[in-house]
Amino acid sequence: MEIPKDKIGLKGRVKWESPSNIALVKYWGKFGRQYPRNSSISFTLSEAKSITELAYEILPEAQKEYQLSFEFEGKENVPFRNKIVKFLDSVEDLYPYFRQIQFHLKSKNTFPHSTGIASSASAMSALALCLLDMEKEIFNKSNLDINAASLLSRLGSGSASRSVFPTMGLWGKHAEINSSSNDFAIGYENQIHDIFKDFHDDILIVSKEEKSVSSTAGHALMDGNPYAEQRYLTAQNNILRIIDALKTGDLDVFIEIVEQEALTLHALMMCSKPSFILLKPNTLRMIELIQAFRKEHKIPVCFTLDAGPNIHLLYPHKYLKEVSIFVKEALKPLTKDGNSVLFDSVGLGPNKLEF
Ligand code: PMV
Repeated sequence: MEIPKDKIGLKGRVKWESPSNIALVKYWGKFGRQYPRNSSISFTLSEAKSITELAYEILPEAQKEYQLSFEFEGKENVPFRNKIVKFLDSVEDLYPYFRQIQFHLKSKNTFPHSTGIASSASAMSALALCLLDMEKEIFNKSNLDINAASLLSRLGSGSASRSVFPTMGLWGKHAEINSSSNDFAIGYENQIHDIFKDFHDDILIVSKEEKSVSSTAGHALMDGNPYAEQRYLTAQNNILRIIDALKTGDLDVFIEIVEQEALTLHALMMCSKPSFILLKPNTLRMIELIQAFRKEHKIPVCFTLDAGPNIHLLYPHKYLKEVSIFVKEALKPLTKDGNSVLFDSVGLGPNKLEF
């Protein structure tokens, strides 16, 4: 695609907010051009978002170096800028005309840095949406193609592919799921029971330390992991089981799969070479408390984990009152400084913002 001559000098601005997501069946292991070894499915979050603004200008000709400035939370951020340049470079075959654009990007998150929230999912999806909205304006397209946005997000960060959809996203080819794809995620909001549509996710921050393994390094370690092949088979099976539970509202099966997936993710890290233990003593303590509370009160609350020590506490809205008391009295004291809980819930996906 070439930029039409009459667009040279064109200036514009677009702004998007896009959420993070939390995987229920995890993506861990990849191949080729950021393709997943198994399918994954996630809740799109509501509160944890990136807000990204892109001001652009079409230059007379393509530039050798990408023309880009990047501000994060009000300050110029060179490491993040360099990451974006690397990303633009990696998609040059798909979007060669990006070299003919002067980009000014500003981004911020609605959640604190290094809290175990997948900021790459919200950041990369917000960026992809800005870029494709700009494309729509430059090439006079009538719609922003959501599959293309998911694909471009995926090339930035695999899990970001799922963030562009409201409520839930499913990513990764599955032989038994029509329209599933390795290239982009698909929206999964219409196939689920109402109980999941306003599920809560209380994020209990155990530690704010930087992760000792990046997700890129973590995915790569799966290549030498002796349990990898079995893991991918189990994940494909868990996807089928969880989509059935999501449809019928079977919380027992949902809880069983979600907790097993979280623990399997960490078990895989522990048995890779080198080994990583990202769980902290208070993570384990909270897991015990959550499972005991569920058993004692017969309240369907469960946990999941990302590649870090922080707990995501998942539960249906109708138990908000009981669970809030449990969080306040039993779990919050075990978080960082006894006061580190972020309250989130299933959300409606990205939004275009006005200036
Ligand atoms: O999107 P990445 O490459 O940062 O990988 C994310 C992997 C997990 O968050 C651990 C699981 C997932 O499916 O989101």
